[in-house]
Amino acid sequence: MTKPIWIKHAAQLATLASDVKGARSKEAMSELGLIEDGSLWIEDGIIQAVGTTEEIEKLYGDKVKEAEVVDAAGHLVTPGLVDPHTHVVFGGSRAREFEMRLEGATYMDIMNAGGGIHATTRMTREASEEELIEQTIRRLDSFFTHGVTTIEGKSGYGMNMETELKQLRVMKKLKEKHLMDIVPTFMGAHAVPTDYKGREDEFVDHLINDMLPVVAEEKLAEFNDVFCEKDVFTPEQSERVLEAGKKHGLIPKIHADEIAPYGGAELAAKVGAVSAEHLLKASDEGIEAMAKAGTIACLLPATALYLREEAAKGRQMIDAGVPVAISTDCNPGSSPTTSMPLVMNLACISMRMTPAEALTAATYNAACAINREQQVGSLEVGKQADVVLWNVKTYQELQYLFGVNHVNSVWKKGIQVVASDELAAANAGMVLERS
Ligand code: NIG
Ligand code: FE
Repeated sequence: MTKPIWIKHAAQLATLASDVKGARSKEAMSELGLIEDGSLWIEDGIIQAVGTTEEIEKLYGDKVKEAEVVDAAGHLVTPGLVDPHTHVVFGGSRAREFEMRLEGATYMDIMNAGGGIHATTRMTREASEEELIEQTIRRLDSFFTHGVTTIEGKSGYGMNMETELKQLRVMKKLKEKHLMDIVPTFMGAHAVPTDYKGREDEFVDHLINDMLPVVAEEKLAEFNDVFCEKDVFTPEQSERVLEAGKKHGLIPKIHADEIAPYGGAELAAKVGAVSAEHLLKASDEGIEAMAKAGTIACLLPATALYLREEAAKGRQMIDAGVPVAISTDCNPGSSPTTSMPLVMNLACISMRMTPAEALTAATYNAACAINREQQVGSLEVGKQADVVLWNVKTYQELQYLFGVNHVNSVWKKGIQVVASDELAAANAGMVLERS
């Protein structure tokens, strides 16, 4: 039995609790369930009580002596951040491509010439399972230090049976080796492998008839994702892959309208996808269709910045009633970062989301995008004790002081995985007075 944890006197406890069921849209995205002088009581990795310090003291006063007490005075406390879209398991580096893009090549030029996703696929095929595990562990540690306690992870750098399964098995094995929760997605349809060029439909058949049944049989994934994009998979091919996945119980997600408008948002609504990703070029009709269907827009402003593209229309989507989540898209090509705090900053700066909306998009709505809202994404009784204590006082400061890691301490299921008061304070540099 571990000691109970009592977090008390938080300047602001953003619980993200709300009566609204399911992913939040419009005004509900601004409901942070704020408690001043907030407090949490944690036992066995689960939140037992949430309230003001006075309320929790009344409830648990007798047990205080046996608890580990965390004085959060002067600090913001939030749920652990959730990153609902990553390509975290990969081999190799694409630093040279970054340089090539700055010299003038486009993302699609590089990919069509056999680089990009194909380059990472070659390097991931070459890497052993052990190497991938070891590299991914370092990325998961980095997510923790940025306040992220649950992530989604996609396959898609194999594009053949052997390596797609290798990536998914790596994620499964990491459950035993790391405290991070990883929710797995099969993304065999990440690109058309070079040896299938001109035979795209044959590759789709191979995916549907050979790969999907094994993935489902071994229970290696919960979601099924496809890169629906001009020169990659057409909306028709994407629909076939996603409908086939549904028959195996896999929930659809779509990389949609990232580079060019292509009807991806419309398709997401049509197939009942839980989320559509990127959406930089989504049409107004597509946004409307998503709002009607309740499809979550998973927006990736770090990717837009990194590709030097205009960000998705986050403001318009929220106003139109689309529930918005945000994510790093952590991958070696278009967004090599684990920083959800930076993504929240960018959601405000480049998509005109408010600080409250950005926090909802990185916690509760992000959890909804991977069907984990019953377990994580808010600080409520009965949920996992995934908690972040920040070196700022308010959620507004968290988004306002940008490009800096304000994480002070992180608990995953009640286990402290980051304890870096001094380091984070030094990192922060811009910390405001805290009286
Ligand atoms: O979400 N757009 C497709 N897939 C990834 C990029 C993968 C890569 O470049 O390696 C994305 O941006
Ligand atoms: Fe992606």
